[in-house]
This record gives sequence, C-alpha cells and structure tokens, in this order.
Amino acid sequence: MRRHAFDPTDVGWRLGRSRVPHGVELWCRYDRTTGVYGEQGSGKTLDLLAPALLAHRGAALATLTKLDDLLLTAGRRQQPPHAGNPPRPIAVLDPFGAAPGLPELVWDPIAGCVDPQTAERRAKAFAAGTITGAVTGGRQDNAARFYAAETAKVLQGFLHAAALTGRTLEHVLEWVANPVAAEQPAEILQQHLHAARFWDGLLAGALHGSPDTVGNTVTTVQQAMALFFQPEIRARCVPSPGRSATDLADLIARQGTVYLLGREDPYASAAPLMTAVAEHVLDTALRAATTSPHGRLTPCFLACLDELPSTTPLPTLRVRMANERALGLSFIYAAQTWKQMVVSYGEDEARSLFGLTNNLVVFGGGKDIHFYRELSDLLDDVRISRQTVTDGPGGVGTSRSGEDVRVLRPGDIRRIRERHALVIAGNAPPIIARLQRCFDGKDGEQLKQELDAARAEVNRARADSSDVRERTAAALAYARDHRLGPRQDEHIEPPFGSLPGAWSS
Ligand SMILES: Nc1ncnc2c1ncn2[C@@H]1O[C@H](COP(=O)(O)OP(=O)(O)OP(=O)(O)O)[C@@H](O)[C@H]1O
Ligand SMILES: [Mg+2]
Repeated sequence: MRRHAFDPTDVGWRLGRSRVPHGVELWCRYDRTTGVYGEQGSGKTLDLLAPALLAHRGAALATLTKLDDLLLTAGRRQQPPHAGNPPRPIAVLDPFGAAPGLPELVWDPIAGCVDPQTAERRAKAFAAGTITGAVTGGRQDNAARFYAAETAKVLQGFLHAAALTGRTLEHVLEWVANPVAAEQPAEILQQHLHAARFWDGLLAGALHGSPDTVGNTVTTVQQAMALFFQPEIRARCVPSPGRSATDLADLIARQGTVYLLGREDPYASAAPLMTAVAEHVLDTALRAATTSPHGRLTPCFLACLDELPSTTPLPTLRVRMANERALGLSFIYAAQTWKQMVVSYGEDEARSLFGLTNNLVVFGGGKDIHFYRELSDLLDDVRISRQTVTDGPGGVGTSRSGEDVRVLRPGDIRRIRERHALVIAGNAPPIIARLQRCFDGKDGEQLKQELDAARAEVNRARADSSDVRERTAAALAYARDHRLGPRQDEHIEPPFGSLPGAWSS
C-alpha cells in the first residue's frame, strides 16, 4: 500500500463504504470538518472517531468521557507511524484519576495570562464549560450564557492579576472562594503598570450590583473552578515543585496525542477545565502551523472532539473550523443529540456550526424527530417525471407530470440500521454508508486484546493507591493529636434533648 504513489491516508481518513448509491469507498479529507450525530451506543466512537484517530499519523487532541475509549487508542497512538521512527508521546489530562499509570498532562492555568488576550480567552473557555451544567429549556440556557459571560469578566481579571504578580492558582482559588471580598485582584489591576487598562472596572462591574445577579455570578465563577477545589484533582493537573507543566509544543512537534478524559458527572463537571486546556492545545497547534515553513501543519493535527457538548463546548470551534482547516488543523466532533448542541451553544451558534460542518454523519435510532425532519428537508425532494398513457373512448393520449418524492423521510433516517449512517457531504447527494467498527476483522481482534491488556495495566496501577479506610484512620489520628476531635463532654443528646445546647457547650 505504502509503495503506491498515492496513499489516501495521507490526505484523509476512511469513513466507510457507500450502500446507497452502491459500493464506493468513502474518505473524508482532513481539510473538511465532520460532525457526527447519534444517540448513546450508536457507534460514534467505535465506528468513526476511534478509527480516524488510530489511522492518523500526525499530532492529535482527543476528548472523551470513557476510560475504555482512551485505552482503545492510547497504545497505538504511541507507536511510531513508520517502522524505525521514534515512538510518539501521549499526555492524559485525567482530573478524576481514572487512568492511573498513563503519562499525565500537567497544565498551569495561570501561565501566559500576563497577556490580556490569553487571560481573556482562557477565562472565556473556563466559563463556557459551565453552560453544559445548565438546566435544559430555552430561557434557563440564555441565563446560563449570561452568567458565563459575567464569570469570564471575573476570571480574566483574577488570572491576569495572578500572572502579573507571580501568584499561583492557590491565590486565584482564595479569591474565587469569596470573589466579592477579594480586594487584592482589584488593587493589582488598578496599580500594576502592565495590567490591561479598565479591567478593574470590568471586575467591579461583574461583582457589584443587584445581590441576585452577583450571587449567581459568584456561583458560576466557583463552578468554573470547582474541580480545582478538590486537592487531589489540583495536585494531579497543576504543576508543583518537581512536576513541571507538559511541553505541549514539543508534544505536537513529535506527533503526540493529548487526551482530555472527563466523565458524565452532574456534580463535578470537567468541562470548564477541559475546554480551557483544549483551547490552549489548539492555540499551540495553530502557532506551530503559522510558524512552520509551509505555513501549515504536515501531517495535519487532528482534533477528535467526542461528546463535544459535554466535554469541551469550545466557544471558538466555529471560527476555528472556518479558518484553521486550511492551516492543517482538522476537526471531527460528535454529539448525542441536536438539543445538546443548542443547550451548549445557543440556537444561532449551534446552527452556524452545523452549517459550517462539511460532512454530517447521522446515525439512526434517535428519537428527535424534529432533527430528522430538518435533515429530511435539507436533502430535499427529487422530481420524478411520469408519463401517463391513457387509452379511452377519445383515443390514445399521453400526458406528462412531475411528482416530488422525498429522498429520505424522517422515519427512514430513524430506521437506518446499526453500523450504517446517513452521510451528507458538501454538495453530493445523500449517502447511506456502511461503517467499519474498529473491533471488526482480524485487526479488530488484535485491538480488543490490546484493550484488555491496557485495562489490566490500569487496574494494577489503581490497586496501588491508598484506600479510604487508611485515610480515615490517618485523619482521625491527626484530629486526636491536634485536639480537633469531639471533646469528652461534647456528646449530642438524642432527639428531644437540648440539641442546640450540645453544640454551644
Ligand atoms: N468492548 C466492546 N466490545 C464490543 N462491542 C462494544 C464494546 N464497547 C462497546 N460496544 C458496542 O459498540 C456499540 C457502539 O459503541 P460506541 O461507544 O461507538 O457508541 P457511541 O455512539 O460512541 O455512544 P456514546 O454516546 O455512549 O459514547 C455499542 O452499541 C456497544 O454496545
Ligand atoms: Mg462514544
């Protein structure tokens, strides 16, 4: 294959084979963006995103919510693309410690924020990640977007102020814990010669005003930084003495892979942190592209954004898709439902994103008939001309008539079988494609074995971490030694006793 003059994997990734119309190999060019829509378990990851990532030779960013999806590709992404080449690095941002033993991504949220633009972009990314947690339903989502914008004003001020004065994330968290009372950042923004002008005003504006609004803003600011308030998560993700930040530019130059592993968790969304890191990775790749001698990345950089709305609702995605695909940055995103996209981006932005996506791949089995109806409308009708011959008492006559027939009705799309998907690509007619699941075939068997081995490896590494019983014992011992435990006389009366008295004694 490689000896042929033209190798399609140089310029794109294989999507599948067409069924209707029959029997054509389907490839997606790297400079065309792809959006995948399909409900849980439809095959977005195993049939499309994982195979694309596995076949890709250049650097990549992959967001995911499932450990298995990470382990599926992490091994092969480290192998060199050609025999004899050096192995490729990977780095995993793993806030919840789900993948112990894999190389960690360490990232400093303050680094670079002396530059007001960096501070602003980073703050906006953190803030955008809070919107996925919003309650569903039109008005609530708009409110969530409003508070995300207020949050960005506060966070950009805090990040900028910390960076200008050599402060760390710990200081920022101290401010975030009680933003209204924090005087330091405002003073720094006012007095520091290098501070962006007027940012103290933006900060004050967001933190003073009607108590309801300020209260909601504060809650959202804290939500954006919530993950860092967990000491273990902070220790895992952020640099500390002896643990420096991952060199992302170097990782990209060596065709490495950045994995951002979140999880579906209504209590602790990783989306704010993951969105901020993803923006940073993409900015780093963009810089590598613009400073490269060819003005673009070769091989290209592939961003595989699985579960986009819940992992990394990047505010910049639409603009990036429009501008950066020509610079060698390629985008594939996946979402379970259209509604999720609307919640994260708002109706207008979600529609623009949808409109800008070159190739849409839609699985059947969904329940959102409105979405299917829109797709059906998009595919439009075909005009079938009919010639009718009538033979009656007045003689033989012919008449021609046209009839519009729907190519795919909404119900037809819903009924598309497993391992098949509707592909709407550019100005081509709609295609029903047969996809290749990455577990299929001989290579799939091999991949399954590699996955099992990787899973066993992670389980071994996990067994080494201390368990909660040991930690409880250690905590109680500390409390005893430092007189933090309950005193002898500090017992709580049973119900109907003098409960308040017991506390105040
Ligand atoms: N290890 C495995 N071996 C065999 N089949 C699997 C395995 N893991 C998942 N599957 C099956 O493959 C199908 C596609 O899974 P896939 O993870 O690609 O779905 P998805 O569209 O990405 O779903 P989600 O939105 O939940 O991530 C599922 O129906 C699942 O039952
Ligand atoms: Mg998936």
